[in-house]
Amino acid sequence: MHILNFLLLPFVLWIIPATCTSDSLQEGFSLSVEKPTTDVLISSNGVFSAGFYKVGDNAFCFSVWFTKSHQPTLVWMANRDQPVNGKSSKLTLFKNGNLILSDAGQTGTTIWSTATFSSLAVELKLKDNGNLVLRTLQGNTETVLWQSFDSPTDTLLPGQPVTEKASLISFRSTTNFSSGFYKLYFDNDNVLRLVYRSPSLSSVYWSPPWSLPVDEGRSTYNVSKIAVLDSFGYFSSSDAFKFYSTDYGVPRYRRLVLDPDGTLRVYSFNEDTETWEVSWQHDPEPCAIHGVCGANSMCTYHTYLGRSCYCLRGFKFKDPNDWSQGCEPQFTTPFSCNRSQYDFLRLPVMEFYGYDLRVDAVFNVTQCQDICLSLCDDCKGFQFKFNGVGTYNCYIKTMLMNGRDSPNFDGDVYIKLPKSTLLSSKDPLKHAPLNCSPALFQTLNRIYQNPQKHTWLNFLLWFACGIGGLEITAIFLVWFFLFRSSRESDKGDLRQQLVSATGFQRFGYSELKKATKGFSDEIGRGGGGIVYKGVLQDNRVAAIKRLTSESNQGEEEFLAEISTIGMLNHMNLIDMWGYCVEGKQRLLVYEYMEHGSLAQNLYSNTLDWNKRFNIAVGTARGLAYLHEECLEWVLHCDVKPQNILLDSEFQPKVADFGLSKLLNRDERANSGFSRIRGTRGYMAPEWVYNLRITSKVDVYSYGIVMLEMITGKSPMGIHSLENKGETDQRRLVTWVKEKINGGPTSMFWMEEIADPNLEGKYDSAKFEVLVKVALRCVEDDMKERPSMSQVVEMLQLPQYRAFR
Ligand SMILES: *[C@@H]1O[C@H](CO)[C@@H](O)[C@H](O)[C@H]1NC(C)=O
Ligand SMILES: *[C@@H]1O[C@H](CO)[C@@H](O)[C@H](O)[C@H]1NC(C)=O
Ligand SMILES: *[C@@H]1O[C@H](CO)[C@@H](O)[C@H](O)[C@H]1NC(C)=O
Ligand SMILES: *[C@@H]1O[C@H](CO)[C@@H](O)[C@H](O)[C@H]1NC(C)=O
Repeated sequence: MHILNFLLLPFVLWIIPATCTSDSLQEGFSLSVEKPTTDVLISSNGVFSAGFYKVGDNAFCFSVWFTKSHQPTLVWMANRDQPVNGKSSKLTLFKNGNLILSDAGQTGTTIWSTATFSSLAVELKLKDNGNLVLRTLQGNTETVLWQSFDSPTDTLLPGQPVTEKASLISFRSTTNFSSGFYKLYFDNDNVLRLVYRSPSLSSVYWSPPWSLPVDEGRSTYNVSKIAVLDSFGYFSSSDAFKFYSTDYGVPRYRRLVLDPDGTLRVYSFNEDTETWEVSWQHDPEPCAIHGVCGANSMCTYHTYLGRSCYCLRGFKFKDPNDWSQGCEPQFTTPFSCNRSQYDFLRLPVMEFYGYDLRVDAVFNVTQCQDICLSLCDDCKGFQFKFNGVGTYNCYIKTMLMNGRDSPNFDGDVYIKLPKSTLLSSKDPLKHAPLNCSPALFQTLNRIYQNPQKHTWLNFLLWFACGIGGLEITAIFLVWFFLFRSSRESDKGDLRQQLVSATGFQRFGYSELKKATKGFSDEIGRGGGGIVYKGVLQDNRVAAIKRLTSESNQGEEEFLAEISTIGMLNHMNLIDMWGYCVEGKQRLLVYEYMEHGSLAQNLYSNTLDWNKRFNIAVGTARGLAYLHEECLEWVLHCDVKPQNILLDSEFQPKVADFGLSKLLNRDERANSGFSRIRGTRGYMAPEWVYNLRITSKVDVYSYGIVMLEMITGKSPMGIHSLENKGETDQRRLVTWVKEKINGGPTSMFWMEEIADPNLEGKYDSAKFEVLVKVALRCVEDDMKERPSMSQVVEMLQLPQYRAFR
């Protein structure tokens, strides 16, 4: 063994410098975008890397990133606004000392350079602190020609300063790393500020623009304009602003980031979990950050749900995916100086910041309205506020910007609207946004210069593709014949082979009858059928549901819908193995769940707190998958503890989904899906009031199920003394709310509402979150309820406390 080692050693030594990466690049060499694994600089401590980072389809930025986190964390970028393409682009250190990033798609195009010059030997070195330095070395004296610390993007590393010339600019979004709208910078008066700066607007939101720097403890006199975070978590600025992170004192990897939401945060690296944790954030009200919601809209903030924007009455979103563009009128504007055509809508305790045309002291609202009307189109509305000296201030707004709910603000807003809109509109004061996230990646379309040297490579590629094509054709043919023959023959064994190809099987009625011993072992009822336990020919244990509805549905239609359900595949959804259609018989075959339903387990006291919380998260995940974000692909419409099944590890699987599609198609066609579905106790008010049915009905039922799981009380089991005319589930909700808010014992609300079976053993932080989330889910107004994917996020947020 030793001899072998000894023999190999020279080779290893020889190989390492050639293939392994180093922390520096010497002059005359370059890093290529095409060799992502080798053409990377790695700092000598292994913590930072510098190389080409993929930011989109065929789009790369030369970047420095932190390597110890699960996902690499970007800390600096050379060309954030102008990514280079994935072929032939390179970063070259020329002998004259210039460092040039070129996009060879357009040969020789310089995308970025340091514009440095030196007659001495230069090297580019990635230091242990993440600073990428272009330097000359003479003996031990280093002369820095250029360094990445002087031109930050959105991140400051410990020791890296914000200066007069170096400011932070946020990413455009969490997935788009180009320059966004928020900036941390030193202003002309030497004060460190945050500003929102879009192509058309600019407004400072921190320090608070309405107070003087001196009132915020800032100094305007120190002209050195420098601010630094150290690795212990202390930040200090020459304008006397300073803070300590919550974990101050421990040397950790840290970064100060101006996030795309306009908030400045310090993140500390947790070595155990390999994730970043928020250890400080500048914390004005989140809605006080300007530019979040554009013109004619309102920002609201919820602790768990975060920020969202609403359009004012009479307005609609310009682009539902980009709130910052604001809302535009839905009405046609009458002649703006015709007073008789306009009136005002009062929005209590709301505030719009900035864009004041003038301020007048007035005695009453009427006076203010008169002023606004007389200004024709220049006045879009006004802010009306008592000024403390017997009169009111009337702030005339030329634009309705930076709007927000502001419960502590003792003023109202009046917006000017055409009378016709005010009379006809039944909209609420404000209405909720769509909550879809915009597309993640964009393709960078570039035309390559045609390389001529790759002919043999092309040949190989074509060869490989050809073989692949043949294979696909062959597979298709085999599948086709199998499928054809399985239709024609009645033999089960051919179908059996299909299982492995599609995972979804057609059963014969007699086969299932046999499997269930003549439908003898009933394990459940509901959702339009009776469920039996059965053992299939291949010894798999199955739950077989026999649909009872009198369906005149043709086989083709049934199959079309069944196949949709069959396509759904998620660890928290019950797996459907197959189906049976024969004559009027319609059966569905599912995997069998060992531990039965949540309902059974809840009342037989087998679920400790951890299992329950797991079930909460898993169920939410399953439903979120069903709702597929914004597509509302499949509504469940009957979420209840009987439909949440538990596998051998007590992982929840949602059952009975997709049946709303199968069962009521005729009624849906005739009545717009209005027949009440679902189960008493778990039904959202929309069913009762005949409102539009959306995925929020499932959210509601989920909330009730969670309350039931937390309290151990069935929504049907609570009886209040006075009959307030409430539905059953409302009583459960009211009961929980009363325990939280009311009475002398409300301090102990957790103990009071927790299922006695838990015997007081629960994680109170998680308990609180689950209760609060559940209560959000059962809001009467469906717009106030979170989406299922938001629920998942809220329940998973590890540092939810940091975001309060
Ligand atoms: C100005 O700020 C710098 C950096 O915080 C500090 O070192 C210096 O002492 C300050 N100067 C004065 C006159 O306060
Ligand atoms: C103003 O509006 C009224 C109807 O509300 C209309 O009769 C009148 O002609 C309008 N005046 C002008 C100048 O447009
Ligand atoms: C509002 O104040 C003005 C000026 O004092 C007065 O003339 C007017 O009558 C007041 N209007 C109402 C509705 O109080
Ligand atoms: C990022 O956003 C900018 C500005 O909206 C846009 O021009 C660019 O194409 C986006 N880039 C990517 C990769 O999505």
